Amino acid sequence: MQDIIISKTIDFVKETLKNAEAGHDWFHIERVFKTAQTINETEKADQLIVALAALLHDIADPKFNGGDEELGPKVAEDFLKSIAVDQSIIDQVKLIIQHMSFKNSFDEVKFSSKEMEVVQDADRLDAIGAIGIARAFTYGGFKNRVLYDPEIKFKEYLDKEGYKNTTAPTINHFYEKLLKLKDMMNTVSGKAIAEERHQFMLQYLDQFYKEWEGK
Ligand code: ADP
Ligand code: NI
Repeated sequence: MQDIIISKTIDFVKETLKNAEAGHDWFHIERVFKTAQTINETEKADQLIVALAALLHDIADPKFNGGDEELGPKVAEDFLKSIAVDQSIIDQVKLIIQHMSFKNSFDEVKFSSKEMEVVQDADRLDAIGAIGIARAFTYGGFKNRVLYDPEIKFKEYLDKEGYKNTTAPTINHFYEKLLKLKDMMNTVSGKAIAEERHQFMLQYLDQFYKEWEGK
């Protein structure tokens, strides 16, 4: 039964995200889904809730839907109802989707569950390491940003939210967000994977600056 629910959800997400941009496409969802399962081998949270939340967490990203924060949870709920998933499971999945983003982690009202910790770690892991670097430069290209500008210190770009800006070079994003994620991990296995990916990014930045200087 669980397998059927999961496979129907996979089909729905693939179809819904078929025109999504590269940072939030089906392959991002698939990586988060797999990483969440890897983390959950040790965490042992509810498998169905972890799977459904991982699959549906970016189903209607507010960034691409006029800032509507409620659309994603609603699309997820409508779909899960249509395939007759128990309301108690739907409620859990909705809460996870509502509270998962980096932005919401600064909210005053916090929701947490073991399942959410697992899926949030998996999503954050996809923003760091080799894949995270690729996603950052893809996003930067999409926004027509320069790779790096040695004249511009990243701190000058931080607004009061502390991580968002509109024009900063892509390298700044490492300092605004990517290098902070390691210390925001929830689970022990998530932390271990994050540590490895973090070291890889530091090494990448060293090499980047070296090459920038023509060395
Ligand atoms: P997520 O959906 O994983 O919570 P975001 O929607 O904030 O994260 O970002 C999606 C991807 O785009 C991530 O890999 C993130 O690092 C990257 N990204 C977001 N903002 C920027 C930026 N200002 N510069 C470069 N990359 C960015
Ligand atoms: Ni995501």
